[in-house]
Amino acid sequence: MDVPETVTTALEDRPVAGATCLEAGAGVGNTTAGLLDAGARRVYAVTNDADHARTVRERVGPGGPDESDRAALLEADLRDLPLADDSVDVITAHGLFNVLPPESLDAVASELTRVAESDCHLVVDDYAPLPDDAEMRDLFSVEDAATELADGRPALTFYPPAALRRLFAGYGWVFDRRRTLLDPVPWTESHVEAHAEVARSAAERLPDELGGPLCEEADRLVESIGEESVGEMYSVAMRLAEE
Ligand SMILES: C[S@@+](CC[C@H](N)C(=O)[O-])C[C@H]1O[C@@H](n2cnc3c(N)ncnc32)[C@H](O)[C@@H]1O
Repeated sequence: MDVPETVTTALEDRPVAGATCLEAGAGVGNTTAGLLDAGARRVYAVTNDADHARTVRERVGPGGPDESDRAALLEADLRDLPLADDSVDVITAHGLFNVLPPESLDAVASELTRVAESDCHLVVDDYAPLPDDAEMRDLFSVEDAATELADGRPALTFYPPAALRRLFAGYGWVFDRRRTLLDPVPWTESHVEAHAEVARSAAERLPDELGGPLCEEADRLVESIGEESVGEMYSVAMRLAEE
C-alpha cells in the first residue's frame, strides 16, 4: 500500500494490529491505508466531504489499489458519529485539526471520546503554527481572510500541540508521547498553488473592492514563494484514562 512516511512514523509505536480503528477525517485515505497496512482488524474512515468519500471508497473498495474488506467508509460528521459508545481501540486524526474551526473542537473531542474504548489510543498529527517570518504564513493569512469574509470561517487553523493536548486532557485523555513527523515541512509549488486557489475562489465571491486585492496578493505570494520549507508537523499520542 502507498502510505506516506509521516503516517507510518506516527503509527509505528501504536498497537494497531488487531485493533478496531477510526480515521477521523479521512481525506484521500492515507491513514486508512496506513492502519490497514499495520494490521488493523477494522478501520472506519470518516469524512463529511462527498469527493473524499468517493476517493476512499474507490481506494479501499473492490478492485481499488488498497482493496480491503476490513475498511468501511462512513460519510458523516465527526460531531455526530454513527458509531456505538466505547467501540474503538485506536483513533487517528492525521491532518484533521487544521481544517477544524475553533468552535467545533469541543464537539469533535467529545464525540471521539464517546466512541473510544477505555484505554483507547488517540494519535493527533498536525501542523504547528508557522513562524512569523514564513512567507507561507502570509499565504495562509490571505486564504483565511478570504474564506472568513466569504464563508464566515477560516479555511485553516494551526493549533499548537500543547493546545490540543489540553483540549483532550479535559475529556480524560492522558498524554503519552510527542514526535516530530516533518521539520521543516516541504510546502511544494503544488501546495502553494492549491492554497492560493482556495484564496482566489473565496475572494471571487466577495465584492470587487475586497476580493480584488486579496486575489492580487495571492498571485504575488505564489510568485514570491515558489516553494518553501518551514514549520513542523507533529504527532501527539494520548490514551484514554481507564474509568
Ligand atoms: C486534510 S484531510 C485529512 C487527511 C487524512 N487523514 C489522511 O491521512 O490522508 C481532512 C478531512 O477531514 C474531513 N473533515 C473536516 N471536518 C469534518 C467534520 N466535521 N466531520 C467529518 N469530516 C470532517 C474533511 O472532509 C477531510 O476529508
